[in-house]
Amino acid sequence: MLLAIPDVLSAEEVREFRRALDAAEWVDGRATAGSQSAEVKHNLQLPESSPVARRLGDLVLDALGRSELFISAALPNRIFPPLFNKYEGGGAFGAHLDNAIRAVRGTPVRIRTDLSATLFLSDPDSYEGGELVIETGFGVQEVKLPAGHLVLYPSTSIHYVAPVTSGARVSSFFWMQSMVRNTDDRTILFDLDQSIQALTGERGGNDEVVLTLSGVYQNLLRRVAET
Ligand code: NI
Repeated sequence: MLLAIPDVLSAEEVREFRRALDAAEWVDGRATAGSQSAEVKHNLQLPESSPVARRLGDLVLDALGRSELFISAALPNRIFPPLFNKYEGGGAFGAHLDNAIRAVRGTPVRIRTDLSATLFLSDPDSYEGGELVIETGFGVQEVKLPAGHLVLYPSTSIHYVAPVTSGARVSSFFWMQSMVRNTDDRTILFDLDQSIQALTGERGGNDEVVLTLSGVYQNLLRRVAET
């Protein structure tokens, strides 16, 4: 499942992020790439230990925690501390698949990457190119979202970032281990949860069918979730 989550950050929050990021010190993005992806990665990144990256990364995590749509879709168990990258002057990231396991620097924590996310921080009209192109089972999808919006996609997908031919594409990106490892199981639970939310809006939370379906959701989650 590929899902766009709108308004993870407000316009004012995006402006604050950009003020901090535009003043930050960027380094070659190959620092965090695996050996295959290093050959195809041409961008800039904030170092993982950068105080600006850690402060803004924590704000991204706070924002994700407030997003019911994100929680419903990702069912996150562990989220990698969000990183930040910038593509400009023809910068691109060729076709690759994200590493299965990511170690969180300076900690014993390892995260299995079930889902990948990109949070767009540039107005799409401010740069040319820079589409995130994701191969899905139903063909190729091109993603270029408004600033503050996030795309969530299975880390099992081959993807690339098209060359940025003018302007700059700034974003945050990260991976997460889901409580529900299997994408199909997670998608079924998401569809069920969203349908229950819609039905709750129509009938109220005390409706008998809503109560039964909410129980079905929790019992299914109990069967498949790992924490
Ligand atoms: Ni990637």
